[in-house]
Amino acid sequence: MRHLLSPLDMSVEELDSLFDLANDIEKNPDKYKDACRNKKIATLFYEPSTRTRLSFEAAMINLGGQVLGFSEAASSSAAKGESLADTIKVVSCYADICAMRHPKEGSALVAANNANIPVINAGDGGHQHPTQTLTDLLTIRSLKGKLGGFTIGLCGDLKFGRTVHSLINALLRYDDIKFVLISPEELKVPDYIRDAIEEAGCEYEEVTNLDDVMGDLDILYMTRVQRERFFNEEDYIRLKDSFILTKDKMKEAREDMLVLHPLPRVNEISVKVDKDPRAVYFKQAQYGVYVRMALILKLMEVEV
Ligand code: NCD
Repeated sequence: MRHLLSPLDMSVEELDSLFDLANDIEKNPDKYKDACRNKKIATLFYEPSTRTRLSFEAAMINLGGQVLGFSEAASSSAAKGESLADTIKVVSCYADICAMRHPKEGSALVAANNANIPVINAGDGGHQHPTQTLTDLLTIRSLKGKLGGFTIGLCGDLKFGRTVHSLINALLRYDDIKFVLISPEELKVPDYIRDAIEEAGCEYEEVTNLDDVMGDLDILYMTRVQRERFFNEEDYIRLKDSFILTKDKMKEAREDMLVLHPLPRVNEISVKVDKDPRAVYFKQAQYGVYVRMALILKLMEVEV
């Protein structure tokens, strides 16, 4: 049984083949429209989501399959005290694959250990978010034509931002990547992520000012300050507007720099930047559907 708990669960070769499949799905959607007929995905969301849950559901529907699930813990039996292990055993009787988002780090592993169907980690607390990373990598590969050989700035909440952790882990396997980690002191990447960068011998710098590095970047990955993971509201209010990408700041950027954001955006990118052709975050959300379609096919071992 294959699960996807971390972006490292797939080798670089497997990722390449996944992205080729996603690009083919983009070009020839009709070819795949019955690939998962009579199959069901359960989406178990114990935390809020728009893109991740809906893109999984859209992905399965595009493949001719069906969806079931819940979008908040309060409407599941977790509210009655059921354990995650029991829930997942039961869901295994109803669906062929499941995507789960949960506020606790490590919950996806607990689910996988108790499931009889493939489990996809759709975000476990502040830990990892591998399918966002697949989306990010497919976006970069499709728009830049390669993975590797670039300087990527990751900006915002690098401490609690699980998309950042997964993306760094995944990019460490490609050649010639330089990370510029842009955050307030309090929101720097956790030690385990810095250790992974150092162990991989990858070049990186940690800075607190976006303007100083803007012109060096091939990719700027903006993130939201993760309010729900703060211990107190005062700290959130103090830090929430640490970085705001504006049209003026974009003037300092390279002409071919891409701006990515996992979304949701709060305040960190001015809406006036949206029209800039370098701002690709809505395109990125579209790639999220293709890559999740490809992932469902791979994990369910469906050949088309
Ligand atoms: C991200 C998440 O849930 O971690 N959202 C998403 O899935 N696109 C980013 C965020 O919430 O800031």
